[in-house]
Amino acid sequence: MKITEAKYIVSAVAEDNYPRLGLPEVAFAGRSNVGKSSLINQILGEKNLVKTSAQPGKTQTINFFLINKIFVFVDLPGYGYAKVPESMRKKWQPMMDEYLSSRKELALVVQLVDLRHDPTELDYLMHQWLDSYQIPSVIVATKSDKLKFQAKMTNLKKIKNSFPSLAGENIFSFSAKTGDGKQLLWKKIHEAFHLL
Ligand code: GTP
Ligand code: MG
Repeated sequence: MKITEAKYIVSAVAEDNYPRLGLPEVAFAGRSNVGKSSLINQILGEKNLVKTSAQPGKTQTINFFLINKIFVFVDLPGYGYAKVPESMRKKWQPMMDEYLSSRKELALVVQLVDLRHDPTELDYLMHQWLDSYQIPSVIVATKSDKLKFQAKMTNLKKIKNSFPSLAGENIFSFSAKTGDGKQLLWKKIHEAFHLL
């Protein structure tokens, strides 16, 4: 897809602050530092639209971006990093719950996991949570540039086996550095919008 415009709209901590555009949304969820904000920049072909950081816990609010004036990307705060302040961790669950349970515009959640590691307990919980709300999702195993081909294949297979409720084609590798997986992700995003 050709991106002609990608624009920050608003950061929200509660439903009152969500934009009311009535446009379909894709949200990006995953552990702090897994690469959510970097993925958004990569697939939009932007360098710094979304702030990224080597420090976990960079994104602490629900951040909305309007793309080509026709759909919305939502960068969600990450979970599960011990270094993230306790005050933030306490706010995370109610903030996410409100968003996931109430957001009618939500067409797809892209859940990121780290291709180098086994999924964490919180990754499983996040996935169950999405399933329980019947929110369509795909799992993107990111940072694939850090692995050699064979390790990449082995780990991807393991991750596919770890999420049996999701069809294998909905779990794929990605890299914000090389763009691996970018076209497939766009395909999934398009499909999700047509379903809404
Ligand atoms: P929070 O906002 O803290 O939840 O983190 P996040 O998931 O948004 O992660 P972010 O995009 O800020 O990236 C965290 C770190 O990982 C940064 O140092 C990125 O440069 C790095 N990173 C992200 N994606 C990739 C990738 O695909 N490959 C490599 N090599 N590094 C990556
Ligand atoms: Mg972030």
